[in-house]
Amino acid sequence: MRGAKMGYKELKFPENSLFLVTGGAGFIGSNLCEAILALGCRVRCLDDLSTGKKENADMFSDNPRYEFILGDIKDYDTCLKACEGVDYVLNQAAWGSVPRSIEMPLFYCANNIQGTLNMLEAARQSGVKKFVYASSSSVYGDEPNLPKTEGVEGNLLSPYALTKRCDEEWAKQYTRHYSLDTYGLRYFNVFGRRQSPDGAYAAVIPKFIKQLLNGETPVINGDGKQSRDFTYIENVIEANLRACLASHEAAGEAFNIAYGGREYLIDIYYGLTEALGVNVEPVFGPDRAGDIKHSNADISKAKRLLGYSPEWSFERGIKEAIEWYKENLK
Ligand SMILES: NC(=O)c1ccc[n+]([C@@H]2O[C@H](COP(=O)([O-])OP(=O)(O)OC[C@H]3O[C@@H](n4cnc5c(N)ncnc54)[C@H](O)[C@@H]3O)[C@@H](O)[C@H]2O)c1
Repeated sequence: MRGAKMGYKELKFPENSLFLVTGGAGFIGSNLCEAILALGCRVRCLDDLSTGKKENADMFSDNPRYEFILGDIKDYDTCLKACEGVDYVLNQAAWGSVPRSIEMPLFYCANNIQGTLNMLEAARQSGVKKFVYASSSSVYGDEPNLPKTEGVEGNLLSPYALTKRCDEEWAKQYTRHYSLDTYGLRYFNVFGRRQSPDGAYAAVIPKFIKQLLNGETPVINGDGKQSRDFTYIENVIEANLRACLASHEAAGEAFNIAYGGREYLIDIYYGLTEALGVNVEPVFGPDRAGDIKHSNADISKAKRLLGYSPEWSFERGIKEAIEWYKENLK
């Protein structure tokens, strides 16, 4: 249909394009690998399986257009080898979690900053066309104004946020001095299939779903009145692919990637209990250090410069996510 908005599944990349997805055995990375293969392109996944899953890495191994490298982005030679012949880098490898970063600042610096810098340098040396990387809404720190808008950032509240901010600054230098087209994607609380519900640092949506399905009582940190711009994985895939096709003029920038909505944790909780048909009251725990109270994104910059146009509202995404967890969490 003429004039109709083209979904990411219709995007065209030059034949035989090769994408490198770092962190491709993780939640977001494995979804990116799947989407790229569905477009008919080639994918190389680089992951050290530190928080990712072997089953994600192996999921596409029957596809001749898929290749897995077990390796660490902290090692520059590994990055260089992984970038050989690559057209587009989607750098997702990093450790998440604000509280864990407060416990392990040295590791976060090495993994999330030096690792990304290694990838930037390897991409430059290898003549990569576009370098798209995962940043985070945490870079807004204590900035109180909503919606969060690029260019209006506050004081950083955690080592994790600092690592993402440093990555953005390094990427800018690579665009400025070496003409590497870099695009930072500030993800806002992503959720969806394959996001891990396990461990002390798990994201809240898969954790609650698993606990409720297992008859356990979830703990809400704080009063549950915190709000977030929860973003379905499909929107994040779209953003990454559109960034690969973005103009040189838009390079060296960071973009909010969200739906532009605002969901309160307590409402999500009761929405989940209703959808799962369980009647469990939550327990309220202390606030978490380094957390912000509210987060909601202005996505106009990504719309304008990347052509980003998220199609998945929270309501639509959560329905699909619940169905996926019901089938896959056993
Ligand atoms: N999930 C979210 O809501 C969210 C929000 C903001 C930003 N992000 C960022 O998006 C990216 C992906 O997050 P995710 O939720 O998919 O996390 P994830 O833990 O599921 O995936 C991260 C992957 O990176 C791999 N990895 C970590 N360090 C590595 C290293 N040194 N070398 C090679 N591989 C390494 C892990 O094994 C894992 O497979 C991260 O950069 C994260 O900081 C995520």
